[in-house]
Amino acid sequence: MVKTDIFASYEEMSQAAAALVGEALQKQPRGLCSFPGGTTPEGMLRCFTGEVNNAAIDISHAHFVSLDEWVGLGEEDEGSCAAFLKENLFAKLEKPFASSFVLNGKAGDLAAECRRQEEFINQYGPLTVSVLGIGLNGHLGFNEENVDFGLGSHVTPLSPVTREVMKKYFSGKDLPLTQGITMGIGQIMKAGLVIVLANGAHKADILHAALRGPVTNKVPASILQQHPNCHFILDSAAAAKLV
Ligand code: PGA
Repeated sequence: MVKTDIFASYEEMSQAAAALVGEALQKQPRGLCSFPGGTTPEGMLRCFTGEVNNAAIDISHAHFVSLDEWVGLGEEDEGSCAAFLKENLFAKLEKPFASSFVLNGKAGDLAAECRRQEEFINQYGPLTVSVLGIGLNGHLGFNEENVDFGLGSHVTPLSPVTREVMKKYFSGKDLPLTQGITMGIGQIMKAGLVIVLANGAHKADILHAALRGPVTNKVPASILQQHPNCHFILDSAAAAKLV
């Protein structure tokens, strides 16, 4: 079941998302959570790390796994998901998760890197909470159009929409990236709680397609209509076409 929570501001939606993550971890202190990279989750991470640091959320027994990464980029590269998480999550936390796994897009053996993520999720999972953004093509992580909904961790070509949008992460530079490595829809659908964050009018059409259109792998996020406990946490601009 999808619940749509609409907030007047980005700050309010970010606080609400962090609170939901906190509640989920309170119920399952040894749980596994996953956060994405991208622009959208910055506010949620600011709130989440603040709550952890003031002891409102306890992550000392919880585990963390990253969602996705650009193939060819690692933690030291501007715009990588790992660099984003380092800056906005790990560097802010005064106390760490019990353990964490962050995908390395520079791994020499990408199939082995996928297996490492799968094994981590199998060891500590299924996910307690999966926080996601949504791409303009409806992707979740790098589960791009036409994805096989049953897949676990995998490497995939970037869609034309993703390749167009991605410059914003790299100071406008056109990097020669062609693939992503990502957790699969199969693992996301097993999460106890899925939270999708979106703000801004540019996301309104894809949110309408994902939530009001048919379930189809042409719009990967539409599969979440079949998730038993999914919250779309939106600002009013992103939600404009849902009402
Ligand atoms: P964004 O990316 O948060 O930068 O909009 C979302 C996504 O592509 O998943």
